[in-house]
Amino acid sequence: DHEGRVVVVHNGIIENYLDIKEKLLASGHEFSSETDTEIVAHLIAYHDRGNPFEAFMSALRELKGAYALAILFRDQPDQIFVARKNCPLLVGITENEGQFVASDVAPMLSYTRDVVFLDENQAGIVSNEGLKLFCVNTGEPISFQIERVEWNPVMAEKQGYKHFMMKEIHEQPDVIRNTIGTRTSEEQGEILLEDIGIDSARARSLNRIVITACGTAYYAGLVGKYLLEKAGQIPVDIDLASEFRYRDPILDENTLVIAVSQSGETADTLAAIDLAKQKGAHTLGIINVKGSTMTRKVNGTLYIHAGPEIGVASTKAYMAMLVAFQLLSMYLGRLRGNLEAERCRELIHDLKVIPQLIEEMLKEKKLVEEIASKYMNFSNFLFLGRDINYPTALEGALKLKEISYIHAEGYAAGEMKHGPIALLDKDCPVVAVMTRGPLYEKIVSNVQESRSRDCRVLGIITKNDRQVLHHVDDALEVPDIDPVLSPLIN
Ligand code: BG6
Repeated sequence: DHEGRVVVVHNGIIENYLDIKEKLLASGHEFSSETDTEIVAHLIAYHDRGNPFEAFMSALRELKGAYALAILFRDQPDQIFVARKNCPLLVGITENEGQFVASDVAPMLSYTRDVVFLDENQAGIVSNEGLKLFCVNTGEPISFQIERVEWNPVMAEKQGYKHFMMKEIHEQPDVIRNTIGTRTSEEQGEILLEDIGIDSARARSLNRIVITACGTAYYAGLVGKYLLEKAGQIPVDIDLASEFRYRDPILDENTLVIAVSQSGETADTLAAIDLAKQKGAHTLGIINVKGSTMTRKVNGTLYIHAGPEIGVASTKAYMAMLVAFQLLSMYLGRLRGNLEAERCRELIHDLKVIPQLIEEMLKEKKLVEEIASKYMNFSNFLFLGRDINYPTALEGALKLKEISYIHAEGYAAGEMKHGPIALLDKDCPVVAVMTRGPLYEKIVSNVQESRSRDCRVLGIITKNDRQVLHHVDDALEVPDIDPVLSPLIN
């Protein structure tokens, strides 16, 4: 604040900061920046009548938008005030080595595995004595639970890899093994998911599933739609959480709403769950972080067991989400009588082989590097896929954008002729997922059309598929597996 007495760390956006700023300017506050964060410090100082925590609480009641806040008063250096709204915030608890505040579990792990996830509308005082929590609206104290995180500090280190994303890509085989865990009985052709809160009666009473998520988790959900409709024979809708939450979706008690999230803290997905519950739907979370806010909101959780994902762009969690959807679709398919035990057995067998196949693929790094160096100077890419690999194309394009800062679009290949084909020329290469499957011939002909526009094609193709080599300029070969499982390999 203008006296340098209140220090603020803030993640999020204060939406009504201009209104608050106007009020504070009128009462003589001077600002040294244009940021929304600075008004938080001034607003607390404005409310301070000698009780700093009361001042903090009064300020919180005025703030709109999203925040995870940590506040320190210069004259009370042994206390940190914390609060959250639409942004994650955790307090790490130790007996003798201090307390910690962060927005994610990973940075806590070197200090403590005992954490408290704050809920919406809670504010706390962190000190040597531990944590005290209060309700922001009433000021009443709140009791809370300390969660024990199962991850260890080594899991949150780079372990010799150049960056976390590379490490996490290499962890994918083990992550898939962990997600499968003890959830299958190959002998009986059964999936063991009784702990997710969907029994046979509920599975049979479902008349619709709605999947909602953000980013990569949304694309995993899109693969989930194909799987659930096929094995479960249930109509499935999917919606971005940021759209779903502001619509007036039609849901009832026979709708299952599945929220997908690595962190379990994404604000739009959390709000989507609240809405689904308000409307009486049954909710299931496909989530990575145990104890996260989402796990406490949903009726049941299917944990993906991917371990800490530190790279901002999701990789291994995406794989684990795909496996989770695979298991869930087979589970519902069996309960609803749409999936034969024999077919389920086959799929379990093939699913269990995938980690080994990916281990082999990860040895092809040299080839991938060679191809990357051929394509690195293009500024636009089109990713094409069909059917269950349409989401693969979307996810591929998202990764290229987020990681290489190269513009890329993902498209359903059958939609090319309705406009996007106009963009293709020698400067816009196509990455096409054209592995063997029910729509193989279709995508090959889509790629032929693209090539008539002189564009370069990089095909993701099935190993030893000589026939398709005529239609591509470069190829990355992947093992031949059941098309239903191909998004995991592609
Ligand atoms: C984005 C990340 O900001 O959040 C994506 O970059 C991620 O990789 C998305 O998929 C959603 O996050 P979560 O934790 O809800 O899966």
